[in-house]
Amino acid sequence: MSGGRILSRKTRPEEMTVETNDRKNILLVDDHQPFRDSLAKILSGEGWQIFGAKDGEEGLEILRREIIHLILTDLKMPKMDGVELLKVAKTIRSEVEVILITGYGTVDTAVTAMKDGAFDYIQKPFKPREILKLVRKALEKQTLVLENRMLQEKIKDFQRPDKIIGRSPAMKRVLEIVAQVAPSSATVLIQGESGTGKEVIAQAIHDLSPRANRPFIKVSCAALPETLLEAELFGYERGAFTGATARKEGRFELADGGTLFLDEIGEVSPTMQVKLLRVLQVGEFERLGGTKTIRADVRLVAATNMNLLEAVDRKAFREDLYSRLNVITLSLPPLREREEDIPLLAHHFLEIFQKKNNKEIQGIAPESLNIMLQYRWPRNVRQLENALERAVVLARGKMVVPGDLPPEILKTVQGPAAEGAAILDDKVISIPLGTPLEVIEKQVIEETLKYSRGDKNVASKILGISSRTIYRKIEGEKGEEGKDGAEDQKDELS
Ligand SMILES: Nc1ncnc2c1ncn2[C@@H]1O[C@H](COP(=O)(O)OP(=O)(O)OP(=O)(O)O)[C@@H](O)[C@H]1O
Ligand SMILES: [Mg+2]
Repeated sequence: MSGGRILSRKTRPEEMTVETNDRKNILLVDDHQPFRDSLAKILSGEGWQIFGAKDGEEGLEILRREIIHLILTDLKMPKMDGVELLKVAKTIRSEVEVILITGYGTVDTAVTAMKDGAFDYIQKPFKPREILKLVRKALEKQTLVLENRMLQEKIKDFQRPDKIIGRSPAMKRVLEIVAQVAPSSATVLIQGESGTGKEVIAQAIHDLSPRANRPFIKVSCAALPETLLEAELFGYERGAFTGATARKEGRFELADGGTLFLDEIGEVSPTMQVKLLRVLQVGEFERLGGTKTIRADVRLVAATNMNLLEAVDRKAFREDLYSRLNVITLSLPPLREREEDIPLLAHHFLEIFQKKNNKEIQGIAPESLNIMLQYRWPRNVRQLENALERAVVLARGKMVVPGDLPPEILKTVQGPAAEGAAILDDKVISIPLGTPLEVIEKQVIEETLKYSRGDKNVASKILGISSRTIYRKIEGEKGEEGKDGAEDQKDELS
């Protein structure tokens, strides 16, 4: 059906479709019916829908019921005058525009009404083209106001806490740049350690762009061997290679009008780098085994957890491709550099996994948060997400306690004590000097067990010894000897 289709559709920012109704509704309020009728005739000739009202009250009733973009109202009317109507109307629909129609001698009142938010006034008698010009201007402004409000809503929506968490200065900066670059079609390169949220940001750039209602297509460059990646990106014609039994459109074509997200771009082979460079330079490509040149209007967002510049220095990544990708670079800070976000993200994930697992947990114990704040999170937000999922599943009590955290986190949060132990510095026990070591040991173990509510696995993680050792030490048991005993030995020595 789409054989050799030339894709030339362009989506420029100025073509941005906004969900404003093209059909504009105008409310005419005037107590003089013949005047209302003749004005309605002039305006409806332009394709606008006209609602008539004989006084302010009737007008407000219509305003509450219909989506009115503009009100044309007489200034002097019985019951409620035009200025009063203007004020009430603005409280019902703040973005509605109002044009006042004045007779001889009321111009001053109309001028004052501009301060109350009237768009303009027109003095009777007027010519049809004069009123049409004014109405057009008012409606244009109205559209702009609506568009702007929708954009603001979109930005607010994307900053809503359940979408992208980031109140640290570093993340705030990132989000500012995202909002700034999203409306253009400029290529964006997102750099950041694994799990810092590169994909989340790529999606946000798309969602905030005029391309939002076109496809967001993701390709993971590392997941596919070179030839498959090429077929995936550019598509192929029937018979292009063994197994190509039918034509297939590539991801570049599928993303036409939208955004193509090239994940792990640093992993792309030298040959593919050349091919990508060409698409970026000329915006054209051919399907594998095809001869037709295909154009696709695609906004490119690439991501990598590699230092691409260093890869360029090593000659592992082409410099020309790098500079094409590097039009705008976003560097996502590692989680350990945005401490403020750790508690926010932790609670965010707690909520998500509580719902998912149908479990009720009240919160995260301060000791647990302390450990999270000290930990270095080498795999960043994703690791925190996984830690919270695990904690929710394991948690026995109403709070996430340190014992619910993954052992690697407990282990590496180091303090002055033995390696492998977690320091819970707000849990302190005092032991008089001169207490025999054996008794001290027993007491520490007992206190830890109290803390872990008797869970020996948790206690053993906190203490950095095996649960069997705990047993032996407090029960005074010998424990089983043999190979297991040898393992215990190792625990104690380390
Ligand atoms: N700021 C954030 N707010 C909420 N969730 C986030 C945020 N950043 C990341 N996440 C979540 O963390 C996980 C990892 O994010 P994402 O997949 O975007 O990271 P990445 O940098 O692409 O990782 P990788 O390098 O491993 O591909 C996802 O589940 C994502 O939803
Ligand atoms: Mg990713």
